Amino acid sequence: MTLDNDELPKTFVLNNGVQIPTVGLGTWQAPLNATRDAVSFALQQGYRHLDCAYIYLNEREVGEGIRASGVPRSEVFVTSKVWNLFQDDVAGNLEKTLDNLGLDYVDLYNTSLTLGVLQLVHWPIKFLPADAGAPNPLRPLNPDGTYKVDRTWDQGVTWAGMEAVYAAGKARAIGVCNWSIPYLEALAKSWKVVPAVNQVENHPFLPQHALKAWCDARGILLEAYSPLGGPGAPVLQDEDIVAVAKRNGVTPATVLISYQVNRGIVPLPKSVSHERLVQNLRVVRLSAEDMALLDGLAAKGKAQRLNKPPFCWDLGFDDWD
Ligand SMILES: NC(=O)c1ccc[n+]([C@@H]2O[C@H](COP(=O)([O-])OP(=O)(O)OC[C@H]3O[C@@H](n4cnc5c(N)ncnc54)[C@H](OP(=O)(O)O)[C@@H]3O)[C@@H](O)[C@H]2O)c1
Repeated sequence: MTLDNDELPKTFVLNNGVQIPTVGLGTWQAPLNATRDAVSFALQQGYRHLDCAYIYLNEREVGEGIRASGVPRSEVFVTSKVWNLFQDDVAGNLEKTLDNLGLDYVDLYNTSLTLGVLQLVHWPIKFLPADAGAPNPLRPLNPDGTYKVDRTWDQGVTWAGMEAVYAAGKARAIGVCNWSIPYLEALAKSWKVVPAVNQVENHPFLPQHALKAWCDARGILLEAYSPLGGPGAPVLQDEDIVAVAKRNGVTPATVLISYQVNRGIVPLPKSVSHERLVQNLRVVRLSAEDMALLDGLAAKGKAQRLNKPPFCWDLGFDDWD
């Protein structure tokens, strides 16, 4: 029998002692006209963790949703991310994010349960400025449609900027996204603050077992982005996952979200649908057999990365050209 499980933790503890709710609401590609309602509704239903980013261009609507929810800001854990173009000005980009979200700095510090702002490096890549007149200056492109990447940039400089906003108290924790083991090993030579999290694509087709073991050993919590496989939620259709869902009397989405919490990873499912928002809050204990099956799907030939922007840059993942 599957239990909606009170024993499963509602929060994990970051390596600096800050508590992070185990399921976060993703906001990438939440349309502007749906974001405020989705965030407000989600918080009213019990979400306490929002995953945002400057580049999602909807942080204003997220902030409106927080205020409309009636949930005290002090109870909400908010994550944002430095965009690739601004790695030489982490503090400036964070200021813009906080302005967009409408967060009050003072509230960050006035109680022990302060509004959590987890600040992440979005990708270990710095962009070059866009050409004059480029249609989207935030996403500078080469003529062939690939991103304009600054191949000389030292990620240690970006991380020093992150450490500075942390030291200044503007982020309660700092972390990275999309960092492979070789990148983390290089950063470890100069980091003063160990990243609190590494947010990466993660689902049974891309379980990242080696990365998880590496991060576990250093107290870095993994967060699973695209836990349902991303837009359209393709992983939900997989026959093995559907079978686990049927066996447990839950939906495939509940299996995928629960899979992550059961293995000590924070899933960040995105939805703007009331029905799916409620569904995605459900977390159940999965048996050792089900966990082993899900853990083994990639090795069984189903390995697949679904989010792979054309950076044309070796990010150090085995499956990234
Ligand atoms: N750091 C990074 O580089 C990075 C990259 C990608 C994503 N992320 C973060 O991770 C979050 C989640 O990833 P994601 O947005 O790529 O994908 P996801 O959460 O795996 O999947 C979202 C898709 O699944 C649908 N969906 C949600 N719940 C469902 C359910 N119960 N049943 C069926 N379909 C469902 C959504 O549609 P509806 O909205 O219509 O429900 C949407 O199409 C993002 O929003 C973002 O916050 C970070």
